[in-house]
Amino acid sequence: MTIVIFGGNGDLAHRKLLPALYNLHVDALLPPRTAIVGVGRKEMTDEAYRAFAKDGVTKFSRRPIDEAAWAAFAATIFFVNASIDGEQGLAPLGARLDIIEHEGQRSGDRVYYLAVPPTLFAPTVQQLARARFVTKEDHPIARIIVEKPIGRDLESARAINDAIAAVFDERQIYRIDHYLGKETVQNILVLRFANSIFEPLFNHKYVDHVQITVAEAEGVGTRAGYYEQAGALRDMVQNHMLQLLSLVAMEPPHALDADVIRDEKLEILQSLRPLAGAAVDANVVRAQYAAGFDVGKPAPGYREEPGVDPQSRIETYVALQIFIDNWRWAGVPFFLRTGKRLPKRASEISVHLKEVPPILFNADPSARLDQNILTIRIQPDEGMSLGISSKIPGPQVRIYPVKLDFHYGSTFGGSTPEAYERLLLDVMNGDPTLFMRRDAVEAAWKWVMPILERWTAQTDPLPAYPAGNWGPAEADRLLESTGRRWRPL
Ligand code: BG6
Repeated sequence: MTIVIFGGNGDLAHRKLLPALYNLHVDALLPPRTAIVGVGRKEMTDEAYRAFAKDGVTKFSRRPIDEAAWAAFAATIFFVNASIDGEQGLAPLGARLDIIEHEGQRSGDRVYYLAVPPTLFAPTVQQLARARFVTKEDHPIARIIVEKPIGRDLESARAINDAIAAVFDERQIYRIDHYLGKETVQNILVLRFANSIFEPLFNHKYVDHVQITVAEAEGVGTRAGYYEQAGALRDMVQNHMLQLLSLVAMEPPHALDADVIRDEKLEILQSLRPLAGAAVDANVVRAQYAAGFDVGKPAPGYREEPGVDPQSRIETYVALQIFIDNWRWAGVPFFLRTGKRLPKRASEISVHLKEVPPILFNADPSARLDQNILTIRIQPDEGMSLGISSKIPGPQVRIYPVKLDFHYGSTFGGSTPEAYERLLLDVMNGDPTLFMRRDAVEAAWKWVMPILERWTAQTDPLPAYPAGNWGPAEADRLLESTGRRWRPL
């Protein structure tokens, strides 16, 4: 198989894709005779590209480089300078791929990875078609991988999906949401459906509410060009967070089949209570980070970051109260929050079970027992815990909250595979389970659109939070107004 990476000398290839492929090579998981061909506008020799890849692996791989493994891997990496402009733009790529495949006795099965800005998705697939790289047959295989963002609203997402669908069948298209490749995210289904203890509790009878937090310590960094067009709702909620929500809330699928699972997740997206008009103001909080601190060091506000409009109204934080209008979750609020420049990088899902009745051990209104909380730690300290109440040893009945705790690190050891390793492998194996189907991408956009529309019509100042803080006071009030509060992380 040949993996052709458009944007092969870009940031994503450097930080994520090449290190992931290297780790798959070390684990002997790549199909035999896999070749990796970076494509870019820059002139670069194979040697220079291998050095670029080695730099990426050295800096970003979860494992240190092993020189013998590296040498074998490096021999399978190539670079082709090609552009998607003009009638014959991909001709040099075609010629080079023929040689690489012929000399390496490769089958001609190919995966095309579009690690390029979304504006280049449509022109690139059109060029792939023009160069006759795409067949709808099963042999040789032609598959395409696209990265988020798939559009910046429903209309542009549909346009991108249409352009890709003009060339590839849906079964050949793999839309990455890298959160779905994280081990801890894959474990949500196992936790729910391989244990008899949790599933019976996951519904409105026992669950008071659910919180999903994706907190980042970093600011916008060097990505202002993209982020100024996006903001937290488009960048994190439309995709990663709604996917987490779907996995926590979905019905048990009747099989582990890609489309069965994706159908169930889609059901959740379609059951989200729409937020529009004044309901947006009551249920969604957005904010922007102001100057503050990043782990003790002064950090600029978002509007002072390089490349950001000093008047920018782009949100770097968003918190939402969401309801799923189906039988299972009727009346259970799901609170989501995500932001940049929060005090630390930490993502988790917490399922807050209802309080025990105010009798026996929970009778004193001034000392209520903690609720049982099931916490799924997505990253960085991967694992899960269940908070329970326990008696402190001694003659009196005194109750103390304790945790049943599971840590991936101490249980399974070693370094957990990166999301991209699993996702690349699944594309090679033709398994689309962990990828976004077109209808899910569009359903998520459809739900997000009225929020974006409400915001576009507003001109009042955005709430601010100092860099290094847990978001604005408005987000605390969102929960406090319902008698709840954010779980401290
Ligand atoms: C990306 C967003 O999809 O996810 C980034 O565009 C964000 O803004 C990143 O920083 C977070 O990913 P992770 O895996 O570091 O949690």
